[in-house]
Amino acid sequence: MKFRGKEMIVWSLNNYLGLANHPEVRQADADAAKKFGLALPMGARMMSGNSNYHEQLEAELAAFEKKEDTILLNYGYQGMVSLIDLLCSRHDVIVYDAESHACIIDGLRLHPGHRYVYKHNDMADFEKQLQRATTLIEKQNAGGILVITEGVFGMAGDQGKLKEIAAFKTNYDFRLLVDDAHGFGTLGKTGAGAGEEQGVQDKIDLYFSTFAKSMASIGAFIAGDKNIIDYIRYNSRSQIFAKSLPMPLVIGNLKRLELLRTVPELKNKLWENAGKLQKGLKERGFDIGKTDSVVTPVYMKGGVEEATAMVMDIRENYHIFCSIVVYPVIPKGNIIYRLIPTAVHTDEDIQKTLEAFSATKKKLDAGEYKADAIPDMAEVTGKRFDYLREMPRNK
Ligand SMILES: Cc1ncc(COP(=O)(O)O)c(C=O)c1O
Repeated sequence: MKFRGKEMIVWSLNNYLGLANHPEVRQADADAAKKFGLALPMGARMMSGNSNYHEQLEAELAAFEKKEDTILLNYGYQGMVSLIDLLCSRHDVIVYDAESHACIIDGLRLHPGHRYVYKHNDMADFEKQLQRATTLIEKQNAGGILVITEGVFGMAGDQGKLKEIAAFKTNYDFRLLVDDAHGFGTLGKTGAGAGEEQGVQDKIDLYFSTFAKSMASIGAFIAGDKNIIDYIRYNSRSQIFAKSLPMPLVIGNLKRLELLRTVPELKNKLWENAGKLQKGLKERGFDIGKTDSVVTPVYMKGGVEEATAMVMDIRENYHIFCSIVVYPVIPKGNIIYRLIPTAVHTDEDIQKTLEAFSATKKKLDAGEYKADAIPDMAEVTGKRFDYLREMPRNK
């Protein structure tokens, strides 16, 4: 990718399997756009927005995820908000992981009933909240419990404890909804995701994923029992009151799914690259936390201004583009570089990145990125970075 005219090694793209520029994908996207344009279909799914291609994609996804049926969504974020809204009435209780993605949190805002949050991946607290929810349901004599978690938590890269949660089904009555945005295509023997990886795909009542990560596309889906999917199909406001997914996206997603299923080399290469990157970072003394997925966070200590200067140094002088997470998303004094490996990174990309990380970490530890130590960036890169020197210091 080029950024401000310079070629960069990028670790910030949702393109796990490298499908974004796969020649067959590009061809399928182009052919579908040529044949149908962006206009079709010209209505909501329930009205005039259905096509054989939409149904084919749903059938293929259902078979791949080993579920009875699937419904397509235009976007993951909107789809999840709408899903939580339609599934739960005021009598229902939602139990959810504290580090759930914004789409889950925003869906919860529409829930008129009770909700209990459990500490991230903490199974003792999960049971406590599940017990509270069960007591409430019994007292009300109405409603049910929906547990929501993620297959892979996108910031820290740790998998949701699906196996442990599923085991609670023996003693408690609840349904399980899993957002597997980062697991779909990257985890499990066939790439079916975190449920397959942990051997509990059949215990997931509703399996949700976006096409925005492994498929490098747009759209999302929910897979589950036919009667629930039918209910969602005719009650999801994000689908009944919105135009359905455009033909080029549906056809492009069919091609992506075909490659995801039939070319295991893509997932193998992704894991090979993630393994080299994570091993290299650990060998160089970096803290990558508890990731057990390809998502690779790198934890460092420093203020917001230092993080900003460091990310700029790594970008402008080492030509490596990656995203950082700082306060207020995480506690003050911490910095997370969030690296997303893909199947199309090369050994050279990984090596150069590791070297750049070591070099910039040394500067960070030596205080070279503190505001009063920042060199005149204007001399190197032009006037546009002058604001860095004027940034207020976080005391
Ligand atoms: C866990 C998770 N859920 C849902 C979404 C939203 O998906 P979409 O981009 O299709 O709206 C994302 C990010 O894209 C995500 O990381």
